[in-house]
Amino acid sequence: MSARGRFITFEGSEGCGKSTQIARLKARLEGEGREVLLTREPGGTAAGEKVRDLLQHAPEGEGLTAEAELLLFAASRAQLVREVIEPALARGAWVLADRFLDSTTVYQGVGRGLGAEAVATVNALAVGGCLPDRTVLLDIDVAESRRRIAGRDGGVADRMEREPDAFFERVRRGYLELAAGEPGRFLVIDASATPDVVEAQIASKVLGVEG
Ligand code: TMP
Repeated sequence: MSARGRFITFEGSEGCGKSTQIARLKARLEGEGREVLLTREPGGTAAGEKVRDLLQHAPEGEGLTAEAELLLFAASRAQLVREVIEPALARGAWVLADRFLDSTTVYQGVGRGLGAEAVATVNALAVGGCLPDRTVLLDIDVAESRRRIAGRDGGVADRMEREPDAFFERVRRGYLELAAGEPGRFLVIDASATPDVVEAQIASKVLGVEG
């Protein structure tokens, strides 16, 4: 039986550079001959992708309440953990996740104001004990985040991106507070640095590679 793999999650506001850094870390790990699995949330399974569409783009999602939104993110995650993440970790793969439970803690708990307790209960049920080994938080200020997302997807904002700056200020603060409370798990990186600098920091802190 192979040793259990490693579970690394990436968090941060829109436009923080998660996808770029996940792709770079994947290439590095595969270069060492490791199996790497990428996931994204919401989504990552057939059912989860339907949920993603509802949460982000479908007109039917426009009137979702904060509570329904929380439970839909959790539903997508519950499926992803059991169908994809746990089996991959069990066979020794590295799992690199583009968002995981901390997104819910921060966007729904702090951004939407549903509160830490309700969100923690729902998150615990969804993940069933499957928790990240390390979490990379790519910290970016709201103005820079807005600049970066304005230039992608043809400038069309999804449901979340249409929230006001105050929402994203709460999200940013929420992430930083969460990270400060769990310094052993979180690696906080200034995402305004160049992609090469950010990559080197991740390689050094997550993989112990000195560049
Ligand atoms: P992204 O993956 O392109 O950043 O889009 C995901 C969006 O969904 C983003 O606005 C953050 C939001 N989100 C939540 O509000 N709660 C969650 O639990 C997750 C996974 C994402």
